Amino acid sequence: MATIRQAVAYYLRKAHLLQFADYLMFLGDVLKNRKPNQTFLNEHPEFIPPPTHLAYDAYNHTNWQSYYDMGLIHSKLISDLTKEYISENEIKICEWGCGPARVIRHLHKIDGFEKIELLGTDYNEESVGWCEKYIKNARFVSNNLEPPLPIESELFDCVYAISIFTHLSEKLHYDWIEELFRLIKPNGILIFTTHGDISAKRLLPAEKEKYDSGCLVIKNQIKEGKKLFAAYHPPQWIKKKLLKNCVILKHINNAAKYQLEQEVWCAKKIS
Ligand SMILES: C[S@@+](CC[C@H](N)C(=O)[O-])C[C@H]1O[C@@H](n2cnc3c(N)ncnc32)[C@H](O)[C@@H]1O
Repeated sequence: MATIRQAVAYYLRKAHLLQFADYLMFLGDVLKNRKPNQTFLNEHPEFIPPPTHLAYDAYNHTNWQSYYDMGLIHSKLISDLTKEYISENEIKICEWGCGPARVIRHLHKIDGFEKIELLGTDYNEESVGWCEKYIKNARFVSNNLEPPLPIESELFDCVYAISIFTHLSEKLHYDWIEELFRLIKPNGILIFTTHGDISAKRLLPAEKEKYDSGCLVIKNQIKEGKKLFAAYHPPQWIKKKLLKNCVILKHINNAAKYQLEQEVWCAKKIS
């Protein structure tokens, strides 16, 4: 049985009104957070907030306290996995789909490495332009919805993507996984998140049936790459299809420790 919320979202998507409804939610969110955000900025003058529409586009909220805290916690996920699997002293890390740098802005603080070089990429040129102007501890480049990235091969010890495959069609999953592994050094790692079993509880009954049979579920009728274009990934699909040519180092199916509803995958290229 679909909940009222699921049914409303279904009809809005069908009528191509979901983006408009999301815009109204954005306005409400900005209004609701006006006071707490002012307080947060007064207390944290060093924090440069991105434009609210870019934060909402990438993170679905515009509360700076939460944006900051969650960015820090999610950067801990990346630093924990990097420390576990990379033994180099000097590391190069790339975030694909960095948005307005919610996570990458914290990564220069990882301890345990002598030198950390950071590169963020996104297909939203406005986000990349903002990052280039305000986030000084990383470099940024933009890319297109489809690969390639304008980056040479085997450059990075770690490439990560937080909630990017969650917004792509099946074809672009295969195209991008190949492209991301092209950037990774031998023995380097790829970390990414997916809408797995916890998120799949939000699917409508017919979609959930498809998910349970091991197929990727795509909710589209929205521009691909946008947050309302949603892909749901049964773990067996990731293992049998997306990562079939890789060594899976870790699959975290409950990332509550990092306050993430999404599942986390860490894989190594077979060189
Ligand atoms: C849900 S947001 C996540 C942003 C960021 N990773 C974070 O966790 O705050 C998805 C991001 O992926 C970007 N994106 C979508 N498709 C992309 C693609 N093909 N290449 C690069 N970035 C993409 C969007 O512009 C957006 O910034």
